[in-house]
Amino acid sequence: MSVSIVILAAGQGTRMKSTKPKVLHKISGKPMLFHIIDTAKAISDDITVVLYHKFDEVKEAIESEYEGIKYHKQDASNYPGTGGALRGLEFEGKRVLILNGDMPLITKEALNPLINSSGDITMSVIELFEPNGYGRVVIEDNEVKAIIEQKDCTPEQLCIKYVNAGVYCVDSKLLNRYIPKLSNNNAQKEYYLTDIIKMAVDEGKKITPIFVKEEDFKGVNSKYDLAMAEEIMQDRIKKQLMLNGVIMHLPNSIYIDSQAKFIGECEIEQGVQIIGKCEIKESQIKANSVVEESIIDSSDIGPMAHIRPNSKIYNTHIGNFVEVKKGNLNGVKAGHLSYLGDCEIDEGSNIGAGTITCNYDGRAKYRTKIGKNVFIGSDSQLVAPVTLEDDTIIAAGSTITKDVPKGALAISRTPQKIIREFFYKFFGKK
Ligand code: UD1
Ligand code: CA
Repeated sequence: MSVSIVILAAGQGTRMKSTKPKVLHKISGKPMLFHIIDTAKAISDDITVVLYHKFDEVKEAIESEYEGIKYHKQDASNYPGTGGALRGLEFEGKRVLILNGDMPLITKEALNPLINSSGDITMSVIELFEPNGYGRVVIEDNEVKAIIEQKDCTPEQLCIKYVNAGVYCVDSKLLNRYIPKLSNNNAQKEYYLTDIIKMAVDEGKKITPIFVKEEDFKGVNSKYDLAMAEEIMQDRIKKQLMLNGVIMHLPNSIYIDSQAKFIGECEIEQGVQIIGKCEIKESQIKANSVVEESIIDSSDIGPMAHIRPNSKIYNTHIGNFVEVKKGNLNGVKAGHLSYLGDCEIDEGSNIGAGTITCNYDGRAKYRTKIGKNVFIGSDSQLVAPVTLEDDTIIAAGSTITKDVPKGALAISRTPQKIIREFFYKFFGKK
């Protein structure tokens, strides 16, 4: 493998003001660190993540999703800083691509020029009219001559509009040699990775600036940054889906998880949220519906329906105010106001308005099985565990506690009484 990748993710992320490690905050349903790991994996198999703050928590989170990642624990109390992060690592590949765990918007395409351009070191540079917060880059004859951290800048240097985006591709031998030599002789008393530039310049090495887009290299430091990065990511996800054939109405009001898949022609109306690993195939999701971690195939959902995790819905019509959870529905009509939890419902069955599966007795959850061609009258309660066999009818307003055999009608209602003239007596009118 010619490029080794290191992802720096040991920083504490104080500005995030969160007990959760910064890099585990999610963007479009996925921790920001996972976005950058996915990009890294598209480039190389040799990936090391540098951690320190909440080492175990972050490592476990990565391990739950990825295999074959290497971990390096920074000795951050003795060697703080981006240079300290690399101390103790030895690189064997030809070059090392250094990425940051808090840059979820970087794509492989944006990294290609850094990897493919010549030079002993290539580094990402952004031209900014408000360079505040970044290290300034001195460029002469299209070569980088120095990076000066903002806190170490003279007033003149502060006016430099070229800033260090923080991503580099460095010859491994140089990196192995330079990192142990870094010092912390600067305003922040940190070991700056950027000081390798000075070492390389002193040895006459060529450092090539690669101009990149600010949007791609945005670092997420605060919850405001998180929200801004989310908007950019959402825009990218939805644009790609629309180009692939998904119709979206008022896409700015729609949220789509980065892990959601769409197959065939789908239509998504305004205000819809598609959360987690969903698969939507040849279906219409109407306004303001929420679908979580479910499969929707050849169906129409909503408006204002809620499909909760682990539901599988095929050839089905789900109308407004219907909630489904862990439901397998195949060829069903549930048009209005229902809770269908922990259930299987088979072809040709019609679920009347107000049908509730009573799936929970306060201790455990139970399943409801509804066969083919079952007609459930409105406002019925199905107390699970219970089975309604094929070709059965449930009379409106029934509370079903026992299994219903094939072909039967089940009715459980208090007989209706008629008391004539009661109104006039009760209110004293004639
Ligand atoms: C760094 C650059 C600066 C550049 C900016 C771009 C240095 C000295 N400065 O600044 O020139 O403009 O990035 O965003 O490198 N990290 C560790 N261990 C640490 C400190 C940081 O792993 O001890 C990681 C962080 O988790 C983060 C990355 O390194 O992913 C960058 O750290 P950050 O503190 O944001 O860098 P800056 O000081 O802002
Ligand atoms: Ca810092």
